[in-house]
Amino acid sequence: MPEDALFAEVLDPGNRADPYPIYARLRRTPVARQRDGAYVVSTHAAIRSLLFDPRLSSEDLPPSRRPRTGNPLKDWLLNPIRNRVANAHRPLIFRDPPEHDTLRGFVMSEFTIARVNGLHGRVAALVDGLIEACRGRDTVCLVDDLSYPLPVAVICDLLGVPEQDEPQFHAWATRLATALEPDARRDEEARRETVATFDAIADYMRALIRRKRRQPGDDMLSGLARRDRPGMGEVDLIATAVLLLVAGHETTVNLITNGMLTLLRHPDELGRLRADPERAPQVIEELLRYEPPVHFRTRKALGDIAVAGTTIPKGAPIVLLFAAGNRDPERFPEPDRFDPDRTDIQHFGFGGGLHYCVGAPLARIEAEIALVALCRRLRDPRLLADPPPYRPGASLRGPENLGIRIGGIL
Ligand code: HEM
Repeated sequence: MPEDALFAEVLDPGNRADPYPIYARLRRTPVARQRDGAYVVSTHAAIRSLLFDPRLSSEDLPPSRRPRTGNPLKDWLLNPIRNRVANAHRPLIFRDPPEHDTLRGFVMSEFTIARVNGLHGRVAALVDGLIEACRGRDTVCLVDDLSYPLPVAVICDLLGVPEQDEPQFHAWATRLATALEPDARRDEEARRETVATFDAIADYMRALIRRKRRQPGDDMLSGLARRDRPGMGEVDLIATAVLLLVAGHETTVNLITNGMLTLLRHPDELGRLRADPERAPQVIEELLRYEPPVHFRTRKALGDIAVAGTTIPKGAPIVLLFAAGNRDPERFPEPDRFDPDRTDIQHFGFGGGLHYCVGAPLARIEAEIALVALCRRLRDPRLLADPPPYRPGASLRGPENLGIRIGGIL
């Protein structure tokens, strides 16, 4: 395969189960121009330097365009206005400074350590309930039975979504799951469905925010909806709430599922975690390096950028291939070995720089509690198929389902 077509191979669903040999080939050219003009960055050092470079823009989302409906009022008046508003108020993950920093600051002021730590008991209770519901069964599908329902329930709790609305929220989360996938943006039908779901969830959020303003609770949305936040109007507030749902959902699903898959492939490590749950933080960090839920993110060059012997021209799309940097032998000894005892482990699992994941502490708590509980309570877990089937997404990469014979519940 020619070097300038390697990223097309990464996107090919046929390579989803093991993209790492392609990443190793890409790393031979740290910044590799592809046929479509995109530059793929795959070594740890080059990714790191670009993550902190202000000449990279995150405003690389194509403009929002609602499809024609045949209704002249919608096609000529309402939808063009909605498109303009949506383009001016993208979620902060697709914004640059100074607006990005203002919006992120508001989120950080609500995403406090105390609030996240306060979710500990709730996460543990949810995990226990989900495992208990599998009692009496021989096999489980980890994705459907635990990884998928857990993060969305936690986000609802965090945002203060009333319990009776949770099923609706689950359905939206499922439909939006791949909304951040760069490859999903190319499929017209998928875009149409995503836009319709965004409209539905935005309408719901608008009403919920009004209720929170009339009757604030101690949840995150009530805090974000306070009126003393210049720079965060209603549309930005809605975009932020939807982003928190989308960014924290599929990613956490993948960390738990990839985590259990990796532990089942390394039974000695599973046994060590079962015997000593204190190992959980180091297991999670190594998982974020070894099998990260987010394999790459895209950017746009705001100027000519010279990096690792290549000049990326102004305007070019850039792919930061985090998962390749995480396995760079120049940075990590024996990078293809899963080794939770590593001490030097600066991975890109949560990105880095300006857009570093705001939900990292929450994701770590959810994954730790879920994986420890699974290791301790499943009597004799074994994979039903290896590799499992994967969802098509190349960036948010994870199994479609993960069948496990459990041997009973303790
Ligand atoms: C294992 C779970 C998670 C992983 C692997 C993950 C990964 C990431 C990564 C790689 C980025 C950087 C994106 C970029 O550079 O363009 C990011 C950003 C972000 N994440 Fe997470 N994330 C996880 C969970 C969460 C959770 C639970 C939340 C919130 C409830 C969340 C909210 C966000 C937000 C809002 C951003 C954008 C930050 C910004 O643009 O400044 N994430 N995440």
